[in-house]
Amino acid sequence: MNKIIIAIDGHSSCGKSSTAKGAASRLDYTYIDTGAMYRAVTLYFHNHHISLSNDKEIEEALDAIDIEFRKDKLGKSLTVLNGVSVENEIRKLYIANKVSEVSALPQVRHAMVAQQRKMGQKKGVVMDGRDIGSVVFPDAELKIFMTADPVVRAHRRQAELMEKGDLMSFEDILENLKKRDYLDSTRKESPLIQVPDAEIIDTSHMTLEEQIELVCILADEAT
Ligand code: C5P
Repeated sequence: MNKIIIAIDGHSSCGKSSTAKGAASRLDYTYIDTGAMYRAVTLYFHNHHISLSNDKEIEEALDAIDIEFRKDKLGKSLTVLNGVSVENEIRKLYIANKVSEVSALPQVRHAMVAQQRKMGQKKGVVMDGRDIGSVVFPDAELKIFMTADPVVRAHRRQAELMEKGDLMSFEDILENLKKRDYLDSTRKESPLIQVPDAEIIDTSHMTLEEQIELVCILADEAT
């Protein structure tokens, strides 16, 4: 069967990653978490005190950054920054609070988009993010826009963080995801938009299993 590109965009914490991961595994596709790439860049900028207003520093930092995805012994995907797994660190709130500012920088976007296009050139990928159907792969055979009620999203995110031992207040999480939605949708460079040819999935009242099933059905129709 022909393999396609499945582009999943949408608001923060509405289940994009879990759905994309589940669908990729069922379809035997590769899952690419582009948010993790922006988070890894944010972590590098944080650790190296890169000034977001210094173009030269930003360019040099981007040249020094190497991001790849590996699997651990249990098959879990790990985001690897310059040879070191940063999977846990990039999910923390201090990164979430900074990432939308970093990802709005044109140099950062150009570098990441070029890498994402390479990763998807052989098709058979499920890629999730904010600009996959609009900028990275505007010709993707299947485009999905996911969203959910912000309160539902904040509860889900809190449960996810709690599982990892990160106890964050509901209010802080809700505020972070509303702020990220706003910054991601209003930035100049490739803002989060709902492209007209995207299938819309509102996950507020759906289980993860239902979301994965729906994506697989849509993929089947698009193949
Ligand atoms: O998907 P996730 O919530 O991990 O993404 C973190 C942040 O990375 C988003 O809030 C957004 O600022 C940025 N991002 C982006 N473009 C993408 C994926 C993520 O700007 N394709």
